[in-house]
Amino acid sequence: MHSVEPIRWTEAGVVMLDQRRLPAEVVYHTYTDYREVARAIKEMVIRGAPAIGVAAAMGVALGVRQSKSGSITDLGAELESICETFSKTRPTAADLFWAIDRMKRAFREAVRSAGGLDLAAVREAMVREAQQVHAEKRAIDEAIGRYGAELMPQSGEVMTHCNAGALATAGIGTALGVIRVATAQGRKLRVLVPETRPYLQGARLTAWELQQDGIPLTLITDNMVGHFLKTGRVGAIVVGADRIAANGDTANKIGTYQIAVLAKENDVAFYVAAPISTLDLTIASGERIPIEERAAEEVTHIQGVRIAPDVDVANPAFDVTPARLIAAIITERGVARAPYGEALRGLVERKKGVGSRE
Ligand code: MRU
Repeated sequence: MHSVEPIRWTEAGVVMLDQRRLPAEVVYHTYTDYREVARAIKEMVIRGAPAIGVAAAMGVALGVRQSKSGSITDLGAELESICETFSKTRPTAADLFWAIDRMKRAFREAVRSAGGLDLAAVREAMVREAQQVHAEKRAIDEAIGRYGAELMPQSGEVMTHCNAGALATAGIGTALGVIRVATAQGRKLRVLVPETRPYLQGARLTAWELQQDGIPLTLITDNMVGHFLKTGRVGAIVVGADRIAANGDTANKIGTYQIAVLAKENDVAFYVAAPISTLDLTIASGERIPIEERAAEEVTHIQGVRIAPDVDVANPAFDVTPARLIAAIITERGVARAPYGEALRGLVERKKGVGSRE
């Protein structure tokens, strides 16, 4: 299944498609310093929780590879500081912290198997781990897509929000992966795409991504969502997630909560599609999910053009949808339904291979 590639590890460095400039321009940057990778995450050259995780894994590998440390002890100390830099980029995305933990674990294992002496072997092992994180994304997304496709209607309209596509995961996407697999299976879907103010990930990225793949779409503004859900033509809604608490409360792009409320009011099934790495079972409920506040300019300006006077602005990047509004959470290990506490724990504890069917 074809899909755009937002990030790639190369010998020259980490190559990223600049999502800030889409759809007007397709521009790639090559980063050779881990601090540049961290800045690229913060400034949204790459975004979307799982893709942020891939970028962080590659950034940590780059940092370890570029390090001048001459001993494992020094390299270990430097790894801590590299990881600290990444942990300060996008606080809501669970996949970021998942990727950092995984890279730290890979370091400890590499040191153990290299007998604590071979620095070059440890550096290479870190690069391999980052590439492995990336490679796993496609299989994970495809498994999510297979589970989710069964929940999509045979034909008609479905709605998404923001961009939970290939650009956001470095695979085929989570929410858009579900739609891609459903379409490949022969379902005749048209996707309603809310533009997703303030940063317009729907209008700029999801519309572009679906158009590239020839999947029919209709772009709408965010304040049209209620109107379209009320007409009764939308068969299902599927969105991604930045962090899912143990009780199923889900943080996703600002505006997701109001879509879920309108879905309930109008009897439309509202689904969340996300990898297991987005689950944060250490957090009991959504109230404890940290919500990133972003710059006022994202609200007062569009593509550098001022559209509002210089006034006080609020810009929370995410909101939390209570679990009671979510019909199901689709993961690569299966579909969880309420009561979510038990169902999500069950999926996390399940040790089957990616995408295996019960
Ligand atoms: O601020 P962004 O663009 O990183 O927000 C992205 C989202 O909210 C996505 O829906 C979420 O990260 C899931 S991506 C598969």
